[in-house]
Amino acid sequence: MTGDALSNAAGAQAEAHASRRAFFVILAAGKGTRMRSEHPKVLHQVAGAPMLGHVLALAGGGAADRAVVVVGHASEAVAAAAAAAAPREVTVETVEQKQQLGTAHALRQAEAALVDAAAPGEDADVFMLYGDTPLIRRDTLRRMAAARAAGAGVVVLGFEAADPTGYGRLILDAEGNLQRIVEEKDATDAERSVTFCNSGVMAFCARRLWPWLARVRDDNAKREFYVTDVIALARADGVEVAVAAAAEDEVLGVNDRVGLAAAEAAFQRRARVAAMRDGATLTAPETVFFAHDTRLGTDVTVGPNVVFGPGVVVGAGASIGAFSHLEACRIGPNASVGPFARLRGGCDVGAGAKIGNFVEMKNVAFGDGAKASHLSYLGDASVGPQTNIGAGVITCNYDGFSKHRTEIGADAFIGSNAALVAPVEIGDRAIVAAGSTVTEDAPADALALARARQTTKPGHAARLKDIRETAAAARRAVAKRRGDGATEA
Ligand code: UD1
Ligand code: CA
Repeated sequence: MTGDALSNAAGAQAEAHASRRAFFVILAAGKGTRMRSEHPKVLHQVAGAPMLGHVLALAGGGAADRAVVVVGHASEAVAAAAAAAAPREVTVETVEQKQQLGTAHALRQAEAALVDAAAPGEDADVFMLYGDTPLIRRDTLRRMAAARAAGAGVVVLGFEAADPTGYGRLILDAEGNLQRIVEEKDATDAERSVTFCNSGVMAFCARRLWPWLARVRDDNAKREFYVTDVIALARADGVEVAVAAAAEDEVLGVNDRVGLAAAEAAFQRRARVAAMRDGATLTAPETVFFAHDTRLGTDVTVGPNVVFGPGVVVGAGASIGAFSHLEACRIGPNASVGPFARLRGGCDVGAGAKIGNFVEMKNVAFGDGAKASHLSYLGDASVGPQTNIGAGVITCNYDGFSKHRTEIGADAFIGSNAALVAPVEIGDRAIVAAGSTVTEDAPADALALARARQTTKPGHAARLKDIRETAAAARRAVAKRRGDGATEA
């Protein structure tokens, strides 16, 4: 899938913003009290990845040379998550903001890490983003970089707010130029009626940024150092300030669990559209849930109520039936999965393979054209190409202490309801009889039968029936005599 919604984290290639160097500073020091959580806010997940990971992913694909994450509350956990989410070829550093004295103060903490960006003659971009605003698109940052390239010293990302309460208002002059940003608590009534708001995302000329931040004061209602004050400082210095606009659901900032759910919903809406634009058929798109890194080939069909956990790649022409749940697996081209299939981590399903209803798989290499059509559990196994796994087959991979592997060759046939007690190997073209409990290896071309021999007794069923019918008639006769006696008495 190459649409913007998913490629943010999927690592799809994007061109560099410009020939200038670019650096990200991601503010993530706040506590996030309203989440009411033991965990730092920016580690709460959208589409299976921490919000901070979504923002860091934007730095990939050449968008930034380096990213600095400003941490404060739960700094160790946030720093570890930042390191884990670092996109390839992007150096991610963390700096600590010991006290949360405001957004300008937070941004200033990155100065030492980015001194070279402000070297004389440099015209690098510093993008300031928030760790709790995960849905920004690369394309939007590209537009901001273009405004910088066109001469702006600061670019502010604004949006029309349905309800502007709590946001900084963008105060424009008669020509539509941004003059300054006023925070809600410092605004006059007239300013409060403005609905064009600050998303928080800004791009700066790196060289000019640090001197401006040093001049920001905390003479406001919250006694905080506001980064938004840089706008008025830039204007006073005669530096051009530009505004780029984004849709409200792109700049959505998460403050509580309700906001988290709204971000998830917005992500999913975007991902569904991207999947369809990229050539997948979703029969009921509003019921399909993607992870941040789901990749679907062309002509993939996804039925209703399918959930993709992280790490799923689906090959061209494959179909994923209704109510299937997939994570960390690769589905080969033209394979068929579900309905009602569950693929847990580590499965690699071959081309044209078939996994039917109520089949659960974990850590299985499932060969090209192999089939497990009904009601199976396959775990820690390899299944060769064209092998047929009958209904109800179970790999008994766990003995109560450790896990063991089941290796099944190519073109084999595992009869219905067989239990394969691992570790065990079934060779190529071998047949396992239905109902067998297999505890020993079966070599290639062997027939393994492991069940009690059947005894058949001719005529016994009919005799059994006679005996029962005779007994039933006798009981009825006794009951009738007793009943007659009772009415005479
Ligand atoms: C900020 C903007 C406001 C904008 C809004 C968008 C300022 C002064 N105001 O307001 O114009 O409309 O975002 O959501 O910038 N943070 C730190 N350290 C700090 C303070 C904040 O890391 O000392 C981080 C927070 O964790 C958060 C982000 O910066 O991720 C924004 O801080 P917050 O206090 O939520 O700013 P707002 O009042 O929402
Ligand atoms: Ca906020």
